Amino acid sequence: MRRVNVAVPPPYDVTIGAGAGALAELSRVVGDRANVVVSQAAVFGAHGAALKAALGGSEPWVELVADGEDAKSFATVEGLCRTFADGGLPRGGVVVAFGGGVVGDTAGFAAAVYHRGVAVVQVPTTLLAQVDAAVGGKTAVNLPEGKNLVGAFHQPLGVVVDTSTLSTLPDAEYRSGLGEVAKYSLMPQGAAVAAVLDADLARVLARDPATLEGLVAECVEIKAAVVGADPEERTGARATLNFGHTFGHALETVAGYTHSHGEAVAVGLVFATHLARSLDRVDDAAVARTEDVLTSLGLPISVGQPEEIGLSGVGASELLDVMHRDKKASGGLTFVLPGPAGLESVDDPPASALEAAMRAVGVPASGGGG
Ligand SMILES: NC(=O)c1ccc[n+]([C@@H]2O[C@H](COP(=O)([O-])OP(=O)(O)OC[C@H]3O[C@@H](n4cnc5c(N)ncnc54)[C@H](O)[C@@H]3O)[C@@H](O)[C@H]2O)c1
Repeated sequence: MRRVNVAVPPPYDVTIGAGAGALAELSRVVGDRANVVVSQAAVFGAHGAALKAALGGSEPWVELVADGEDAKSFATVEGLCRTFADGGLPRGGVVVAFGGGVVGDTAGFAAAVYHRGVAVVQVPTTLLAQVDAAVGGKTAVNLPEGKNLVGAFHQPLGVVVDTSTLSTLPDAEYRSGLGEVAKYSLMPQGAAVAAVLDADLARVLARDPATLEGLVAECVEIKAAVVGADPEERTGARATLNFGHTFGHALETVAGYTHSHGEAVAVGLVFATHLARSLDRVDDAAVARTEDVLTSLGLPISVGQPEEIGLSGVGASELLDVMHRDKKASGGLTFVLPGPAGLESVDDPPASALEAAMRAVGVPASGGGG
């Protein structure tokens, strides 16, 4: 079992293990406080018995939320808060978020606002949530105007990870998490993640729980250090976690979320590294390494065939338009790029460098109109 401390006020531990022993940690974190489990049908169906045992064996109070990005809504959060009120969850109670990022974000946001804040424990069951979403206290819902536009920082009381829950995760969801793992491995502080991938790639792809315990722990070490340095994204340190995401988000938007977040991030990592190469921040070896890591994990390194990535008819100008629209929120067209001083935010790179990076990931200069 691995334990990683997140040094925010108040600090908390992320406990990572493989099998029932890991979930047993949950009863220590929750203690004898009243609690409600928020989950989804697929997660609770597959792993509810293990969670129930971890909480002490008696029948838990469980609320299920719907599946998919559409469930990240005010309606879901209102529904949760109303059931908390109906069921009498007290101010000192605990919300146990048992699922992927959708459960973590909605249950976390409900916990942040119910009674002006009750405790939440994150028990993530997707690879993406284990290495990323469950750690760091960001919670959010979507608006029709955009993703994650309303939310709160609400640090959990603790995070409990059982990597054996990943055995039932659909392949596409597992690949999605691997995109974030690849990102960590390519960060300047990612040597330990890269070492696990180098030594144990086959076991990672086979989802061996013990191997994943080490892999998830090394990813969480990186996220915890960054979050500890910049808990509420004020100094720019936390923004380095967006490596690969500016282009990745634009890709997701124009492709209409037809492929996994991890695949979009993978192409975004290649884009960012080529952009850094065009700006003479890195050498050809960095580009080759990025492409090798992603390929070894079965992730795309270019938009490829339109039907593969759902980019039919989309070109560089459409992607740039989307990135410029996002610019309103941040105040500049900003990319997190590798370079001699590590990952840094680079504002408004020249059009020629952007075009070269677009070409490198297979995006045509302009859309084909299809
Ligand atoms: N708060 C943050 O810091 C943060 C960071 C990254 C992403 N996110 C958010 O996370 C969300 C994506 O999360 P996700 O990728 O975990 O997807 P998800 O929560 O939608 O889960 C994917 C699917 O897998 C199912 N599932 C989950 N665990 C399972 C298991 N062990 N076995 C079988 N099925 C299982 C779920 O029911 C769901 O259908 C996005 O909304 C994103 O915005 C939040």
